[in-house]
Amino acid sequence: MKVLGIESTAHTLGIGVVDEDEIHCNVKSMFEPDEGGIHPREASEHHYQKALQIINEVDQKTEFELSEIDAVAFSQGPGIQQCLEIGVVIARTLALKYSAELIGVNHCLAHISIGTRTTEAENPTTLYVSGGNTQIVEFRSGRYRVIGETLDTALGNALDKLARKLSYPHPGGPEIEKLAEKTDEIIETTYPIKGMDLSYSGLVTDMERKVGDEKDEVVANTFQEYAYSAAVEALERAMAQSQSSEALLTGGVAMNTRLREMVTKMCEERGAKAYFPPPEYCMDNGTMIAHQGLIQAKAGDRTEIEDSQVDPNWRPDEVKVSWI
Ligand code: ATP
Ligand code: FE2
Repeated sequence: MKVLGIESTAHTLGIGVVDEDEIHCNVKSMFEPDEGGIHPREASEHHYQKALQIINEVDQKTEFELSEIDAVAFSQGPGIQQCLEIGVVIARTLALKYSAELIGVNHCLAHISIGTRTTEAENPTTLYVSGGNTQIVEFRSGRYRVIGETLDTALGNALDKLARKLSYPHPGGPEIEKLAEKTDEIIETTYPIKGMDLSYSGLVTDMERKVGDEKDEVVANTFQEYAYSAAVEALERAMAQSQSSEALLTGGVAMNTRLREMVTKMCEERGAKAYFPPPEYCMDNGTMIAHQGLIQAKAGDRTEIEDSQVDPNWRPDEVKVSWI
């Protein structure tokens, strides 16, 4: 079965094509603001303007005709409403044009399923850390359960905010990473864990206050050490509770070397395995939407056009799982 997937939840417009055996293409364009964070209207304009170019590139890179596509999957939520709207319009149009099924998928679950497709993980406890989301998710008794999550800002968003304060452009995560690599020094601040949940806004504010008084690299390193240790501690607690032997790290922040090191070490100490998808499948991409669409389509899932409205707040634990 050949499935085309469209990702448009935030800054990335991505289209991928998969079948059971192969990933046929993974094309994307990322909106990069001149300054500040992601403005919903500007990001959606980017998606609107790049759509045709990306579809043409997908057409060239895929070795079969796009008219052979059996299903078109799209991110139905969660995400930025205006950005999601562009994705669903492209999806409906292509589904009608190629007489293909339409399948709305949950973006968070797609991050997890591409993680299991591209690694050897089978039923992992997932730490999903991106600009918009920070969650620990497990599949238990027929549903994906959010075991822990941020109570305020997402980890990636916190990194982007701190980087902005340090005068670096978006996305800030890689800038903070480069700065932090320059030192081993850390200063005392608040540890952002609350039971199984995380809370990053106090840590960002405290680090923002230190900018100017402390060296930039010390601020960056302190943020990384506290923020990542807390996330890995919450992941470890979830794994201990469910006796899980597999951890999967995904989302844009999963590309961070220090975070990967911490997850690897925690797993080694527990006798568990740590899995990291290739970077292009950690960040937002259309291929993960195509893959999630494929597994749902094979289980008979379909989305009628009249049920294809986007849902900016669609949580992974609200999804009725018919495919496992
Ligand atoms: P979602 O819709 O799932 O919330 P997103 O729109 O935030 O995703 P992603 O591509 O998954 O998009 O993640 C982007 C985030 O990843 C940004 O906040 C960025 O700063 C962060 N990031 C990227 N590279 C790194 C890195 N090396 N270290 C830390 N953070 C990183
Ligand atoms: Fe994402």
